[in-house]
Amino acid sequence: MIQKQAPVTTHKLLRHRDYPGIHQLPRYFEVGGYQTLHQVLGKVPRAEFIEWLAVSKLRGRGGAGQPVAKKWRRMADIPGQRYVIANGDESEPGTFKDRELMEENPHQLIEGVILAAYAVQATKAFIYVRLEYEEAQARVRRAIDDARAAGIVGTDIMGSGVECDIQMFVSGGAYICGEQTALIESIEGKLPIPRPKPPFPTVSGLWGRPTAVQNIETMMAIPLVVTETPEGFAAIGSRNSPGPKVFSMSGHIARPGNYEVPMGTTLRTLIQMAGGIPGGRFKAALTGGAASAFVTEAYLDTPLDFDSLRGVGAEFGTGAIMIFDEHTCMVGAAQSLLRFFRDESCGKCTPCREGTFHMHNWLAMIEDGQGTRRDTDNLARLSGMIPGTTCCALADGACMPVASALKHFMDEFTYHIEHGHCPPGERPVHLPYDDVEGVYHTGDTVGMPPAQHHE
Ligand SMILES: Cc1cc2nc3c(=O)[nH]c(=O)nc-3n(C[C@H](O)[C@H](O)[C@H](O)COP(=O)(O)O)c2cc1C
Ligand code: SF4
Repeated sequence: MIQKQAPVTTHKLLRHRDYPGIHQLPRYFEVGGYQTLHQVLGKVPRAEFIEWLAVSKLRGRGGAGQPVAKKWRRMADIPGQRYVIANGDESEPGTFKDRELMEENPHQLIEGVILAAYAVQATKAFIYVRLEYEEAQARVRRAIDDARAAGIVGTDIMGSGVECDIQMFVSGGAYICGEQTALIESIEGKLPIPRPKPPFPTVSGLWGRPTAVQNIETMMAIPLVVTETPEGFAAIGSRNSPGPKVFSMSGHIARPGNYEVPMGTTLRTLIQMAGGIPGGRFKAALTGGAASAFVTEAYLDTPLDFDSLRGVGAEFGTGAIMIFDEHTCMVGAAQSLLRFFRDESCGKCTPCREGTFHMHNWLAMIEDGQGTRRDTDNLARLSGMIPGTTCCALADGACMPVASALKHFMDEFTYHIEHGHCPPGERPVHLPYDDVEGVYHTGDTVGMPPAQHHE
């Protein structure tokens, strides 16, 4: 049962909700934009600025939740050219926060990129934007041009003597392009195939040089560490992973869209903010995008942050929340997700290439009423064996919905095997991952980009 709770809303990342038009430079200046560059560049020593980030406890918003300061410190002792990359590839079903951030608040992104470049001594930065996000590309490109013309991008930024050029790069157009080493390969003009790690990009990244790859939302949180003060930032939300967070809500929810709240807000509160579940009760959710585990009603009051979710065997990921109502066939939902991972595997590693193929087939057999107990055994075995054996985290992510569907909904798998069809009242769902414009929205479609932003 979804009960009402008082929602807490902040607009530090989705600032355009309070100040419309801030994608334009004069308006961004009007609301205090770029002031952090005056405060930091050439005035706060780089090492001290990284310490500010450490005190703020800012962790990456692109999936893994790595502490930003820890990553940047690794680059400190390596001399020579360094790079910064803002990762806006955002191709996972259900994740659409960076799209709104890039379209509506691109100058805060540029401000964050320049601060990051200053911290790691990079004179060149890239903003990498998903191929299908044409509006975001146009807004980011325009914002960079305007910032360059105003002396905010380039040499001697705002008279500080600091240099950083920024270039927008349009992604190669596949989910794997968002994996940081595949992204680097694609900027280098190669196929987006992940590199083995180590070495990590902070040691050997773009053209073999130290490179800080950060998610768009992470970059946009960096100016907030200055405006809120590091201690003030650390006081927002969860203790070990604080700060504001944009959650993308989709699926069986009344008002799909992006919602900005403090880290640690519960799923119950977010569902209420998004208008509840029309025509049904809550059954399950993916809390971290497609590459995460299904959680059930028992998790509705778990704080949504990296540590709390990992503590209960779930994943925070990108903070993309897909809601599934009581009428959802969970075998079908898992199959739909695995179709995505099978199609998006780059094929380099055998466990991923073969594993996603076979897991999808077994799920399809069960969903179509042709499955046996052997198929569920195989699914359990393979989803337990694959994690940790591959070159990137795509395969681990693919195993999470499978393993968690088996854990929480084995009765539904058994029903399909015994009766040859879905339990009464349930229907399959489809993830519209090839529908990038979000032009359709049916009750049976989850993970869609929103047609409009809600809050
Ligand atoms: C298959 C795959 C796709 C990914 N896609 C994205 C993406 O679109 N955006 C993103 O920020 N991180 C993505 N990541 C994570 C990046 O590799 C990297 O960890 C992240 O950009 C680091 O930024 P952060 O520390 O600020 O989160 C992806 C990872 C994998 C394995
Ligand atoms: S895990 Fe999958 S997507 Fe990642 S490198 Fe290996 S084959 Fe490619």
